[in-house]
Amino acid sequence: MKKTICLLPGDGIGPEILAQGVAVLKAVGQKFGHEFCMEEALIGGAAIDATGQPLPDATVETCRKADAIFLAAVGGPKWDGLAPEIRPEKGLLGIRKALGLFANLRPALLLPELAGACLLRADVAAKGLDLIVVRELTGDVYFGEPRGVEVRDGLRTGYNTMIYNEEEIRRIARVAFETARQRNKKVCSVEKSNVLESSRLWKEVVIETHKDYADVELSHMYVDNAAMQLVRDPSQFDVILTGNIFGDILSDEASVITGSLGMLPSASMGASGPGLFEPIHGSAPDIAGQDKANPLATILSAAMMLRLAFQLGAEADAVENAVRQTLRDGFRTGDIMEEGKTLVGCTAMGQKVVERLLAG
Ligand code: IPM
Ligand code: MG
Repeated sequence: MKKTICLLPGDGIGPEILAQGVAVLKAVGQKFGHEFCMEEALIGGAAIDATGQPLPDATVETCRKADAIFLAAVGGPKWDGLAPEIRPEKGLLGIRKALGLFANLRPALLLPELAGACLLRADVAAKGLDLIVVRELTGDVYFGEPRGVEVRDGLRTGYNTMIYNEEEIRRIARVAFETARQRNKKVCSVEKSNVLESSRLWKEVVIETHKDYADVELSHMYVDNAAMQLVRDPSQFDVILTGNIFGDILSDEASVITGSLGMLPSASMGASGPGLFEPIHGSAPDIAGQDKANPLATILSAAMMLRLAFQLGAEADAVENAVRQTLRDGFRTGDIMEEGKTLVGCTAMGQKVVERLLAG
């Protein structure tokens, strides 16, 4: 199989972790006889420095022509003072919107190898944590109009609009139900319909859409309760279906309680065209350039790409198994380090995974 991948290294630790993700993809190509052509483009702060824009047109073009997009991370203190329209984050939001990547899949999984890192009480962790947040990614208060800051009655006033139309809700609900069918067939739709009109419509449309998925169990939860239930007993969740802002918050929560933010991948998919694959963590400017970052979330994002963008399930399994074998062999980056394990840097960690992949 021959595929083109657009690489977006971005900022901070981005280039380091992406290099390891690319090394793993190359090893997959070698082992399974695929050709992955990589083309690099600018996004985020790196793009601002080079072109003045966080998402140059050339980047959108390169992404559109690719079969998949592999992104590391954007942002950093260097660009914090810029106007909101040209901040690095705009690059990320812009590429999601430009490519219509409305479905963001964020699995949170407690690997037995990393059980010691879990932030939950042992009896809660023992019940397990294996869920996926299906987050709507191109609507909601992130993109809603009107938005702005202006003076009203002599006071500076900031405002945004939380808005969803029924089709936006329907299509992400379908993704959640389809995802649940591949898993434990449970969807929990999370909103704030006791207060918000947009959430009331959300709930209504999710219930309507569910009629086509009678084999999937549907429940509903207010977002405040969901945030609480995630730490009280995450084992109750299979698929969490939610909007853009609630999903942003809940996916960070779900991932950090596994104790390993540096481990979790994500996929952003549209109705057609290339999907975008990225670790869910940020650009960690404090450790950038020091070869300390954990590349495993990026490597696992490559596995999601193989499975979801290229339908290469066996190859994806091979990458995930190589990661778990590397952990079983005791190798750890600083963020997941435990007593008695071997501390390695970003490059060495990637290399260990490649060795196990090729040997497996
Ligand atoms: C994420 C990030 C982004 C978001 C930021 C960087 C714009 O937090 O991917 O979760 O809010 O969507
Ligand atoms: Mg976030």
